Order: sequence, then C-alpha cells, then structure tokens
Amino acid sequence: MPSNETPRLYSDLAWLWPLWGAPDGEYAEWCAHVVEMIAKHARREVRTLLNLGCGGGKNAYNLKRHYEVTGLDLSPAMLANAKKLNPECTFVQGDMREFLLPARFDAILIDDAVAYMTSREDLSRLFHAAYRHLEPGGVMLVSPDETKETFAQNETHVTRGSAAAEAKGKPENVDVVFVENNYDPDPADDTYEGLIIYLIRENGKLRVEVDHHKLGIFAADVWPALLREVGYDLYEDHWRPGSVKTHIAVKAAA
Ligand SMILES: C[S@@+](CC[C@H](N)C(=O)[O-])C[C@H]1O[C@@H](n2cnc3c(N)ncnc32)[C@H](O)[C@@H]1O
Repeated sequence: MPSNETPRLYSDLAWLWPLWGAPDGEYAEWCAHVVEMIAKHARREVRTLLNLGCGGGKNAYNLKRHYEVTGLDLSPAMLANAKKLNPECTFVQGDMREFLLPARFDAILIDDAVAYMTSREDLSRLFHAAYRHLEPGGVMLVSPDETKETFAQNETHVTRGSAAAEAKGKPENVDVVFVENNYDPDPADDTYEGLIIYLIRENGKLRVEVDHHKLGIFAADVWPALLREVGYDLYEDHWRPGSVKTHIAVKAAA
C-alpha cells in the first residue's frame, strides 16, 4: 500500500475507526478464539505476541490481558488510535512485508490487514518477514477475510457506526453509517475493489465521503502453498461455521 494509495480510513478519516465496531464486541469473540488456537498449537510458552497490521488496536485491546502485545502498522493515524486505546502496549510503524524489529516473538497474529497484500509476492514477503521474527516453537495465525472461492461479487454491507457508541476514544456528537461494497472487475487477477461510503453526521450536519481500497484475493490453496515454501508446519481451523480457514503456521522448535 504505497503512501499515495493510502485508504482514507487509515489517513484523514482514521478518526472514524473507533466507531466501526466496539473493541469488546466481535473483536473479543475473535480474540478468545485466537487465544485458544495459540494455546493448542504453540510449542513453547507464549508470553509475547506481535500483531501485524494492528490498525486501531482492537485486537491488542483483547489480547493484552494474555500476552505482552506489540503492534506494527503502516499508518501513523491508526497507530495513534491504537496507542490511545492501549497506552501500555508497544506500537511501531512499519510495512509488514519488510520490517525489522530487535525482538522475536512467541506468537504472531495477522488477520484483516492481510487483505492489503495484493500479490503472491507480497504474501510471500510477509510470511518470510514473520518467520524471521518468530521464536522457534512459536506460532503464527493468518486469517484471510476472503478467498476466490468465498468471494461474493457486489456484496454490500451497511453498518451503523453509532452501534459502537461505547467504543473507547470515540468522537463526540458524531453519527456514522459505513456502506461497504466489494467488487471484482477481473476475477482472473489477484485483486478486487473495496469501496466504502461514509455517511457522517457531525452535530446533525451530513457529509458523504468515498474511500477506495485495493485488496488481494487468492485461491484457498495459495495460502498453505506459500506458507509451506517458507518452512512452517501447517494446521488449520475455522472460527465459525462457514468462515474462511485460519492458517496456523508453526516454526519448528530448535
Ligand atoms: C482493518 S485495519 C486493522 C484493524 C485491526 N485488526 C484492529 O484490531 O483495529 C487494516 C490495517 O492494515 C494496515 N496495513 C495495510 N497494509 C499494510 C502493510 N503493508 N504493512 C502494515 N500495515 C498495513 C492499515 O494501515 C490498517 O491499519
């Protein structure tokens, strides 16, 4: 995601992120599952966790009571949200395809941010970079939102931001509706378009903003093939019936 293509949700509209899903709602349910999967598959004690593409820190909010959490993200505006929600955690700016941190971690989580990997080369670079930062016996969870097989053309979701009004750090006197539309103009390639329209009412006054996201989409078998090439031992799990597979990638113990 070069800087000139940074989606508005991660730049000038990042202040809306606290309104899109409370950290103690669905994120808490997802993170409870993450904790279970880590406990089941790690081959070492897990004290430290790195969240790649940590965004506004809603995962960190739920995982910090289990691990010492470090978050890495490209967007300074999202990192500011994350720090506000989790002052006790460490957040670092960087590109998850080519970062270099001074520490290795017992566990790594990559979830919704992996959608911004728009080529197999991006995915492969990400999986290598993560491998270098994982302790032997450590476990990485990679959870794509979509695969070619699950993608629904022209799918549209509407979310009322005000439903997340209890979210910490939420702006005052603002009501938002998020309209999300996914469209793949060329199913033969590895990308699709995510369009978000924001209906923002500040003190009752409406403005409409539009935001384009370029996202990656790969066949289900691409994920395990690329992970295996790096050298991980692989397992898989489903969060909920019908959800896309989570890949559980373990680095062999030394
Ligand atoms: C949907 S948000 C993640 C939200 C996060 N799960 C949370 O708990 O708040 C996706 C994030 O991916 C980040 N991102 C996209 N491409 C990236 C890259 N190459 N390296 C690091 N972060 C990236 C964006 O800046 C954005 O903050």
